[in-house]
Amino acid sequence: MNFNPIETNTWVPLTIQEEGETLINFVQATDEFVIDSFGNSWIDAIASWWTMIFGHRHPKLVLALEKQLKELDHIMLAGHIHPPAESLSKVLLELTNSEFHKVFYSDNGSNAIEIALKLSVQFYQNHPDYKPRSEFLVFSNSYHGDSIGAMNVSGKNYFNRIYSELRFPTKEFPAPNCMFCPWGKSANSCHTECLSDLELAIKQKEYVGIVIEPLVFGANGMLFYDKKVLVKLRELATATNTLLIFDEVFTGMGRLGEFFAYQKAGVKPDLLVMAKGLTGGMLPLGATLVSKFIYEQFLSKDPYKAFFHAHTMTGNPLACSVGYASVKLLKETGLGLVKKLEASLQKRIEPFQKTLGNRIKNVRVMGGIFAFEFQETIAEDEYLNPVGRRIREKMKEYRVLIRPLGRTIYITPPYTISENSLDQIFLGLEQTLLSFAESD
Ligand SMILES: Cc1ncc(COP(=O)(O)O)c(C=O)c1O
Repeated sequence: MNFNPIETNTWVPLTIQEEGETLINFVQATDEFVIDSFGNSWIDAIASWWTMIFGHRHPKLVLALEKQLKELDHIMLAGHIHPPAESLSKVLLELTNSEFHKVFYSDNGSNAIEIALKLSVQFYQNHPDYKPRSEFLVFSNSYHGDSIGAMNVSGKNYFNRIYSELRFPTKEFPAPNCMFCPWGKSANSCHTECLSDLELAIKQKEYVGIVIEPLVFGANGMLFYDKKVLVKLRELATATNTLLIFDEVFTGMGRLGEFFAYQKAGVKPDLLVMAKGLTGGMLPLGATLVSKFIYEQFLSKDPYKAFFHAHTMTGNPLACSVGYASVKLLKETGLGLVKKLEASLQKRIEPFQKTLGNRIKNVRVMGGIFAFEFQETIAEDEYLNPVGRRIREKMKEYRVLIRPLGRTIYITPPYTISENSLDQIFLGLEQTLLSFAESD
């Protein structure tokens, strides 16, 4: 059975209540497929909001969960520790080449960001050589989550402008965008002109930190930018003793072809935030990794210097054991799978462009991301552009689940997706967009 949003007891997120959208009722899932209550099989082409990096119910993750369920389901982490949290922390610190010192758990990406923000503010409070700071440097096309703090450091947009009165101070700069460089620069001629205003600001005033999604602004349009930007930000942050916070909730866990985007860029942040693919999408978990010099400012007997932040389900043993199994998979086979996926996506660019011609723009691939814009015009409040919704609906005829960001259409499939399923997705996209172009 499928439902109308107003008939369900559940308030389904990001759903316009009276729009008349039919909710598909999913009851099963395996690999890249989800099965609805009528028995129809659908392809989860965006890996359920970028989480299911190894597909649904991967046997190794299921096994890890079953094993852990027989041992310890939950224990509050405050004042306690347990093997799954320790094993996962160890493997995360290894994955990041011991460049971070501690792992602080939470249960989603927004909370992991909140923790990074609070730790950063308290770092300056605790540090004997610094005055307290409270303002963050942020970017216009960024998205860091829907909780108040995470929303505050995201770019101001239609989602969060309603809550502008709740904002704590941030200074926002246009997001670097190497796809449509406003300075008309190419990779060779670029001298990070897009950061000149930020450079001026950071030299004039003390800020807590710079918060950025490294290499790709995901939720606000799959905008790719060059690592030069991150190199420059690192240089500016170091020169001004400002913390550099990378939000790898999307770009981490192999999505861009390396374990983390910061490794792909060769630029180390001071705090690293992850969630989504951390448990292969099976259970909610977030983690904030902290550099040693930050942790050292919390090494004190003084309770006022302790970090008093916890979520009830912080470091849940089930989530951590699945996380551990997923990270192990990522280490063993994950990157190879992403590279294979990337090559397959790259190969599809040319025929896709040939079929769709100038109906599509900026076809791009990075790791396990394939994105493009449908037609040229970018509307104000782009996410709400109805074309995205219409394309999503039409793709249902091909049993493919996508969630366009306005005119930006993308797929971020599980790394394990088969070529057959990719063929089905691309056939669906081509047919859908051809039919749109004809009727537009
Ligand atoms: C880059 C980034 N940061 C943070 C978040 C928030 O994560 P969550 O939805 O788990 O709170 C998201 C979610 O899409 C994200 O893309």
